[in-house]
Amino acid sequence: MSIIAPSILAADFGNLKSEAERVVAAGADWIHVDVMDGHFVPPITFGPIAVEALRRATRVPLDVHLMVESPQRHFQQFVEAGADRLTVQVEACPDLLGTIREIRNFGKAVGVAVNPETPLERVEAFLPEIDLLLVMTVNPGWGGQPFIRSVLPKIAEAKKLIDRSSRQILLQVDGGINAATAAECRAQGAGVFVCGTSIFRTEDYARAIHAIRGSASS
Ligand code: DX5
Ligand code: ZN
Repeated sequence: MSIIAPSILAADFGNLKSEAERVVAAGADWIHVDVMDGHFVPPITFGPIAVEALRRATRVPLDVHLMVESPQRHFQQFVEAGADRLTVQVEACPDLLGTIREIRNFGKAVGVAVNPETPLERVEAFLPEIDLLLVMTVNPGWGGQPFIRSVLPKIAEAKKLIDRSSRQILLQVDGGINAATAAECRAQGAGVFVCGTSIFRTEDYARAIHAIRGSASS
């Protein structure tokens, strides 16, 4: 069963509450929250206060993607704001095991993201400790970027590593995901689809989600 996680970064921020309600009513399973600090990636987006607003608007899991330096400095605030899942970038975590354990200590689901150029070897040893592996299909920083097709074999490789591990680990893709690219990623083993533009830049969110889920579950 595919999990669809719309990225709220692409929503109309002037109507955050109604956008969250609308996309959940349209069938979204999670809401993906793209946190950027202007250091790990150039843009600054939003912080715990946006998660608080989303928490008041919906009960679906808030999937917080921390594209920030020293993510462990922020865990407490995001947990208190209502985050359900915290995903860190392996490139920002010199002590990945320690960072994973800190998220665990908050009782939240643990995700690790790898950028397109980052080899899976950087995370392989930590798979037994995590709940979700995010294989980025764009370089992080902006919504609306084109899907990087050369990542497809890496998704297949990630699926093999997950199948060999002892844990149920979700395989998430993020960046340039639409009905067509979701189908390609699903064929390589992805099960969680982060979609910004392909949902929020359409008139009919339910139709967009169905197309992504429909093709992704084919
Ligand atoms: C990029 C973010 C993605 C992005 C997805 O840094 O991590 O979640 O917002 O947006 P689309 O689906 O428009 O590529
Ligand atoms: Zn993201």
